[in-house]
Amino acid sequence: MYKLYCRIYQAIMKIGMYLLPWSMPKTIEGPKSILKLAPLIKEKGFTKVLIVTDKTLVEIHLLDDLLKSLDENKVNYVLFDGVNPNPTDENVEEGVKLYRDNGCEAMIAFGGGSPMDCAKGIGARIARPNKSIAKMQGLFKVLHKIPLIFTVPTTAGTGSETTIAAVITEAKTHHKASINDLSLMPKYAILDPELTAGLPPKTTATTGMDALCHAVEAYTNNTYNSKLEKDLSKKAVKLIYDNLYGAYLDGSDLKRRQNLQLAAFYAGRAFTRGSVGYVHAIGHTLGGLYGTPHGLAMSILLPHVMRAYGEKAYRRLAELCDVCGIVNQGSEKEKALAFIGWIEELKEKTGIPKYPDIKKEDIDQIVTWAIKEGNPLYPTPVTWDRNDFKAFVEKMSNGD
Ligand SMILES: NC(=O)c1ccc[n+]([C@@H]2O[C@H](COP(=O)([O-])OP(=O)(O)OC[C@H]3O[C@@H](n4cnc5c(N)ncnc54)[C@H](O)[C@@H]3O)[C@@H](O)[C@H]2O)c1
Ligand SMILES: [Fe+2]
Repeated sequence: MYKLYCRIYQAIMKIGMYLLPWSMPKTIEGPKSILKLAPLIKEKGFTKVLIVTDKTLVEIHLLDDLLKSLDENKVNYVLFDGVNPNPTDENVEEGVKLYRDNGCEAMIAFGGGSPMDCAKGIGARIARPNKSIAKMQGLFKVLHKIPLIFTVPTTAGTGSETTIAAVITEAKTHHKASINDLSLMPKYAILDPELTAGLPPKTTATTGMDALCHAVEAYTNNTYNSKLEKDLSKKAVKLIYDNLYGAYLDGSDLKRRQNLQLAAFYAGRAFTRGSVGYVHAIGHTLGGLYGTPHGLAMSILLPHVMRAYGEKAYRRLAELCDVCGIVNQGSEKEKALAFIGWIEELKEKTGIPKYPDIKKEDIDQIVTWAIKEGNPLYPTPVTWDRNDFKAFVEKMSNGD
């Protein structure tokens, strides 16, 4: 009965998805494209912006070109570099205060998913001053225009620059959850590969695997996708197959970096409609509880969840196997397993652990939060109930 309820909910959502006005941000791409941002902001008539970023990026001087160019273009800015990895509602409130106190008119979200999501959270709180982040988590609870956000992704992973999601952790409870609202779709994304060239190999691998996870989960899901999302998922998977390991070995290869930025962008757009699945539902709980970096949680769980879906996912995984050309022939099952095998091999080659660290006493909490996130919303190939989730999380905690 419960599983049927989830499927009916998803069927209704599918109809809703056709009615929504989906859009994509305008992109400015290529090496040094960051220098085009300040003139664009000036052209749009903004005189003061809040830059949302994190301390590491300031310390490694990644913002220097942007700041210089803002000065040259006489655009005033306030720098907020207090965003944590896995940003919290407290980070958001700090940013809201700076935005208001300084009379900012728009935002630049500069960094990985954490600064981009934090900026979206700030935008949502500016638009809905009487609604807490917790009250806006879920689907379509902002419903007001937020200040304009120019995104500058410096990881090639989350795709937050083209999604309607902002994932924020409640500092007090460690509950990590997503605000999903069309108003959070950024209007501009600067895809400058030079900004990702200094990403350490480990972060390159895990954030790239997050993008892979978006594409694979959106593609293996059942219902919300249109042809556009399916095509974008395939393109993203192929770009990651061709470029991720090479970029891990040689981070300075700008062509690979650019391809991975595109992959993250395509995969982000694919899942923002096609939805993610149980890798994300479970992985978010590890970020909230243990501070596990998002990409790492995704990389660890992705092949396990795909295996656990079993035969219901074979056909679509086999199609992805064909897109990459991993094997020439074989049954759907063989191709699907070859595709999962490639992900496992990539994990091993890039030093990603096989299993997550899960404390036994947290299993019930993990299951409760994962179900809350995943059901009935995520149109996964197989619907899991509480017992299914529990069995899976227990297996992960036992390392089998
Ligand atoms: N909104 C969405 O659609 C969406 C999708 C997936 C994930 N997320 C969320 O995004 C967050 C994760 O984002 P992330 O994986 O991009 O990591 P992140 O933004 O947390 O960054 C991880 C680390 O890498 C560093 N870093 C970033 N760019 C760098 C660079 N170019 N050079 C050197 N260091 C750099 C950061 O300073 C940070 O220490 C999580 O909270 C996750 O839940 C959001
Ligand atoms: Fe993700």
